[in-house]
Amino acid sequence: MPVDGPVPWPLVEHTAAKHNIYNRYLHRWFPIILSDDSWNEATYAEGFSGPGIYAAGEDGSPIIAVRAFAEEVSNLSKKAKFLFIDDDQRCVTMLTEQLTRAFPQRPRSLGMMPVVIRKGKSEDLLERELDDLGAWGAPILAVLDSWGNAPVPYSFLQRIADNPGSEVIVTFKPQHFVRFVDDLGDGADDVFGGDRTWRQASSLPSSEKRQFILTCYRNALKTAGFRYLLDFELVDRRGDALYLVFGTNHRRGLEKMKDSLWEVDKVFGIGFRDPRDSQLETLFEFTDPELNPLSRLLRERLHTHGPTLVNDLCDFALFDTVFRPQHVIDALRPLVRSGVAVLDDGTRQIRRRSLIGLAPNTQGATPR
Ligand SMILES: C[S@@+](CC[C@H](N)C(=O)[O-])C[C@H]1O[C@@H](n2cnc3c(N)ncnc32)[C@H](O)[C@@H]1O
Repeated sequence: MPVDGPVPWPLVEHTAAKHNIYNRYLHRWFPIILSDDSWNEATYAEGFSGPGIYAAGEDGSPIIAVRAFAEEVSNLSKKAKFLFIDDDQRCVTMLTEQLTRAFPQRPRSLGMMPVVIRKGKSEDLLERELDDLGAWGAPILAVLDSWGNAPVPYSFLQRIADNPGSEVIVTFKPQHFVRFVDDLGDGADDVFGGDRTWRQASSLPSSEKRQFILTCYRNALKTAGFRYLLDFELVDRRGDALYLVFGTNHRRGLEKMKDSLWEVDKVFGIGFRDPRDSQLETLFEFTDPELNPLSRLLRERLHTHGPTLVNDLCDFALFDTVFRPQHVIDALRPLVRSGVAVLDDGTRQIRRRSLIGLAPNTQGATPR
């Protein structure tokens, strides 16, 4: 769907925070991938690249990516390929100009750094262009930053998940699916891997629809073959949310993305939200993060899994929440202090090797 309005458009707070996270991640991704002896090359591909610039002159994601590469690894002798697709001719033209403006001299020769820019629908072109680039068989980072409707064939996500060292970042707007649940045809089911469960949102109370659709989408990406998913919402102070999902098969990728997330510049007025939190509380203060949502998630975890090693709860935080493992002990403290959770050694000293469970009188209670 081409841009509905002028190109370029103003940068909103979410986008600035999203770019900050991309930038931090790409400064890690390029050096790690391109110094790994397993590969001779890697590809960065955007299916919805935009014009490379915003209304006040801020960089778009393609410029951020090329710059991260140029700053980090231009001395490595491995090839980096770039693919940018957009279905709005204005974006394609402007991106071509912006790349020339930002990099008047190529960071690497054409042979070592091919850059392909195409106009067309991502659903038609993305896979084919990656074929033409000979990108498969080596790592691909696919950034799928649509208007939130994620119009990418599910088979493409499966192929990325199956391709060595490859990862995906998808932005997704559940509102789109909530609003059009009764109007969207079979193509919308393909976004969820052909599973029509998401359509049950139409019969849910309004307050539950968004979270239900996010859960369906997360499940679809998991089923596509990504071992680890990091998904979170970026929420501005007015409450507008943008949902991001990162899929990888590598623990290190997940850790690096989570580091990038928690290091995001604080000036953006943006908080994270864990879409699994029953109370949907946003975390605005990163230096001293609000841990109530994690306490709730840990309580739910103990409720469903019984007594668990704190170390395993740290893994749960890393793999299944927006939080970091180092937040877990602090988030458990109020549960232990209030008697909701108990340690098997009878003390209140929470250590990584402690076994912790819900107190017998709270076992059956629904966690809040
Ligand atoms: C959210 S913007 C991308 C912003 C960019 N990633 C950035 O952060 O600077 C989405 C872009 O996707 C393009 N687009 C929308 N639907 C598309 C489709 N089906 N195929 C290709 N491009 C599409 C729009 O023209 C728009 O430029």
